[in-house]
Amino acid sequence: MSEKIKMILDCDVGHDDAIALMLAAAHPQIDLLGICAVAGNQVVEKTLRNTLNVVQHLGLDIPVYGGMDRPMVRDQILAPDIHGESGLDGPVFGPLHTEAQKEHGVNYIIRALMEAEEKITLVPVGPLTNIGMALRLEPRIVDKIQRIVLMGGAFGLGNRSPAAEFNILADPESAHVVFSSGAPIVMMGLDLTNQALADMSVIERMEAIGNKAGKLFGDMMRFTFESQKRNGLSAGPVHDVTAVAYLVRPDLFQTRPANVEVCLDKGLCYGRTVCDMTGRTGKPQNALVGTGLDLEGFWDLVEENIRRLA
Ligand code: RIB
Ligand code: CA
Repeated sequence: MSEKIKMILDCDVGHDDAIALMLAAAHPQIDLLGICAVAGNQVVEKTLRNTLNVVQHLGLDIPVYGGMDRPMVRDQILAPDIHGESGLDGPVFGPLHTEAQKEHGVNYIIRALMEAEEKITLVPVGPLTNIGMALRLEPRIVDKIQRIVLMGGAFGLGNRSPAAEFNILADPESAHVVFSSGAPIVMMGLDLTNQALADMSVIERMEAIGNKAGKLFGDMMRFTFESQKRNGLSAGPVHDVTAVAYLVRPDLFQTRPANVEVCLDKGLCYGRTVCDMTGRTGKPQNALVGTGLDLEGFWDLVEENIRRLA
């Protein structure tokens, strides 16, 4: 039994996805087996390119796979208002020569899980399309999943609609497949992730590290700092990073067990994660939901691991 946490990151890079990738790649307790790109913040061609750019820029030797290019059922929605036309506006990368693996991301997730001797932790921080499709294509993978620690949903208000958070609303049906799969789930929803704000002092702190990763952090977060201001926010929440941080430092988090179900009614609450934290529904508690974050400890964790990178 290896000491390291074997993990697959599923993401829609995306500024906060990129920092989650950096933390997962740097932390000594994590064995980042592979990274799958999914359509979300931008079309999958862009999120895949962004992922490859980050991996290449930081000299990371981690296989990258292209995943689903559209949601399981609904029409596609994107988030250029937050992440820009490229999906990772802000940083400038050199010519891209790193290629994605030929295998489709969904097939990779299934193969990696079915071949694994030890269970693998899945960390999806974009729409849950790749994970949902993998569970539908090969239901037996659920027994090989250590945990699904995801960024998505909210027990309070949404951010893409009043009721729904973007990752869930972008593919509610896949989210339903995941939450009803029986796999152990930790949900880092907006009530938790909006606490992880990268204000200018944090940006300057990471840039002062003086390496490529610290500068990349600054170039990315200065962009979202401006885009969030246009949305009336004072800084950019690094939503996705909390999912990876939870893996290695659960002590920085407060969580509550809950029954979480995804609303699939095509009305105002489409894509809402309905969180029963009091047992009122009598339904089984299928997830731990993040409620509180030690922000000082969180940024210390991020800084110490950015220092480990190029
Ligand atoms: O709602 C926040 C989520 O949407 C994050 O994963 C962010 O990257 C965007 O995809
Ligand atoms: Ca994301």
